[in-house]
Amino acid sequence: MTQQQECNFSTTINPDDATIDRLVAQLLEQMSLDEKIGQMCQSQGGEGHISEHLRMGIQQGQVGSVLNETNVDVVNELQRIAVEESRLGIPLLIGRDVIHGFKTIFPLPIAQAASFDPELVKLGARISAHEAASCGVNWTFSPMIDISRDPRWGRIAESFGEDPLLNAKLGVAMVQGYQSDNLAQFDAIAACAKHFVGYGASESGRDYNTANIPENELRNVYLPPFKAAHEAGVATMMASFSDLNGVPASGNQWLMQQVLREEWQYQGMVVSDWDSIFQLTVHGFADSAYAAANAAANAGIDMEMVSTTYHENIAQLLSDNQLTMTQVDAMVGNILRLKFKLNLFNQPYTEPKKFKALVNQQHLDAARDMVRKSCVLLKNAQQTLPLKPDELNDIAVIGPLADDGYEQLGTWIFDGDEKHSVTPLAALKHELPEHTKVHVARALSTSRSNSEEGFADAVKAAQQSDIALLFLGEESILSGEAHCRTNIDLPGAQEALINQIAATGTPIVLVTMAGRPLTLSNIIDKVGAILYAWHPGSMAGPGISDLLLGKCSPSGKLPVSFVRHVGQVPLYYAQKHTGKPASDSNFVHMDDFPVRAPQTSMGMSATHLDCHFTPLFPFGFGLTYSNIHCRKLQLNTHTPAMDETIYVSVEVMNEGDVDTDDVIQLYIRDLVANVTRPVKELKAFKRVHLPKHSSIEVKFALTKDDLSFYNQRMQQVTEPGKFHLWVGNSSDCQLQTEFELRA
Ligand code: NOJ
Repeated sequence: MTQQQECNFSTTINPDDATIDRLVAQLLEQMSLDEKIGQMCQSQGGEGHISEHLRMGIQQGQVGSVLNETNVDVVNELQRIAVEESRLGIPLLIGRDVIHGFKTIFPLPIAQAASFDPELVKLGARISAHEAASCGVNWTFSPMIDISRDPRWGRIAESFGEDPLLNAKLGVAMVQGYQSDNLAQFDAIAACAKHFVGYGASESGRDYNTANIPENELRNVYLPPFKAAHEAGVATMMASFSDLNGVPASGNQWLMQQVLREEWQYQGMVVSDWDSIFQLTVHGFADSAYAAANAAANAGIDMEMVSTTYHENIAQLLSDNQLTMTQVDAMVGNILRLKFKLNLFNQPYTEPKKFKALVNQQHLDAARDMVRKSCVLLKNAQQTLPLKPDELNDIAVIGPLADDGYEQLGTWIFDGDEKHSVTPLAALKHELPEHTKVHVARALSTSRSNSEEGFADAVKAAQQSDIALLFLGEESILSGEAHCRTNIDLPGAQEALINQIAATGTPIVLVTMAGRPLTLSNIIDKVGAILYAWHPGSMAGPGISDLLLGKCSPSGKLPVSFVRHVGQVPLYYAQKHTGKPASDSNFVHMDDFPVRAPQTSMGMSATHLDCHFTPLFPFGFGLTYSNIHCRKLQLNTHTPAMDETIYVSVEVMNEGDVDTDDVIQLYIRDLVANVTRPVKELKAFKRVHLPKHSSIEVKFALTKDDLSFYNQRMQQVTEPGKFHLWVGNSSDCQLQTEFELRA
């Protein structure tokens, strides 16, 4: 016997907001308190089966969402139970971490950021949504738009890196890709901007650690990507695990109520992170599950992921007058509104035949394109790359990551499958001419191995070859959630391997796969070229082979600064000038100090004694196979009025012999302000195609909003005064002009 009641909440497709609000209000009127609380609870799926506990929970209206179930038959059955066997027939949100692809695995988010290509990122998300939706998923916990300035933090892999503008643009692109123009579309899924907020500032890059971020920095750096996602219509946001300035995000009323709901007028849904409401007791912020639920509900966390403090305590909180029914209705309303927007009341079921095949050629081609555009060429001495296959008789392919279809996928690949991977070795063998002999040596069993047992074979392979391609870096498990490192050098015996191969005299191309920017100072002089490939996903092989063989030029740019030494962390291009800025004229390395040098004789500036103050590679940097220059930087005015748009133009020349893309970047510095401003801030960028021996004009427009910041009173202002402006293809670009904004 079912308790089914005719579901009378079917709507026309695309009901307007007022209609949805009316339907939500009607539904709320019919709901018992238990059913309301049920909507606020998210339970785990059984990865392929439905437990009795879950079945009963859904039947009794005690579950609003299920996460981690992607078997379409099981998902449809879950929906059937919800729709046919629960009293009100409310369909379920089916959540999943679709982070950089579903079955077709795209490069890691940090790699996607290196493409500086919002359209491509959007396409990747669209494909991921289509694949995920075909299995019944209607909600992904992505994009992650945590500003990430600490390479020790494993989750930097999931991020778009260190810059607020890049995070904002790519976060919005992903949201648009997942959600499409219309959430009601059959293959649209709800996006989730996470982790609100400041998770990337976990102290010492240790996951889940405390984040202390002054409010001004929070507003100028950490919040803008979330605001942009909100303005782009992101359906949901996820509270961070972390303690933000002493108040864990999941119970942080200032953050969730004042900033998110009141200042921004965000009307979407907020979900906790996994267990994060219960963890308020572990933080020492609540003395019981009851108190944790109280803090989270009063902060306005609409749905609880996995832990059960809402299920157990909301009713009591209401009867104790800790919470009002108006608050509960608002939270449940946010959840129901999303279900209406997703058209779940009309179409709770997934019809696989409506969808394209998973991992089809079109999806793989898009993934391959992303690999080509996200690998960053860091070094290319004497044009080591591209390879000239006609001149190569023997190539050595060395390293544990050359032919490992699993490790190239990276972290968060719940639904990925290495059987769809094409490895670099497989792709190279396929692409190289028949006369080229490929000498293969794994050298190390894993990226972490300290055993040098396999080195002799690798050295022999290098000795026999014209060039040695080394596929090194980090295996997938060394980055991602809870996988942080203090030493971010190449792990295991990889440096020793590079030394031994270098000793053969055979030129080395290092292809690095990793989830973070590693420290490369120790080996940079030993190799001819470095192609930084991150974890490139299913199509690592074809994409990397296209680049190595010169079928296209690298054009990826660093979304994070690469430190010389881990002791420099945090080091990001948008640093403050300080009162004693470092410069080449005041930096003296400790090896060069005279003995007994007087205390102040060697300069007093913001440097370390034992390491240059610059990064090894700056944000925005990446070489091509060509020779790109910018010149003729022009502004329409050097004395703009406050409301006047500043038009910027620059001539970009490809003086080399190779067609390539490049990313043209515009930076500013506000010289004097109510709060100190960064020495450079990215304000615009464009990926452009540049045929060889050509030049194009690239234009940008800046408005007063682009020049604004939060002042000491936390007001967003644009102040008149002098600005520097640079355009180039890296954050250390030197082509500069200035303007003075009039009041
Ligand atoms: C914990 C992670 O912090 C979050 O990013 C993820 O979406 C959830 N678990 C769900 O798996």
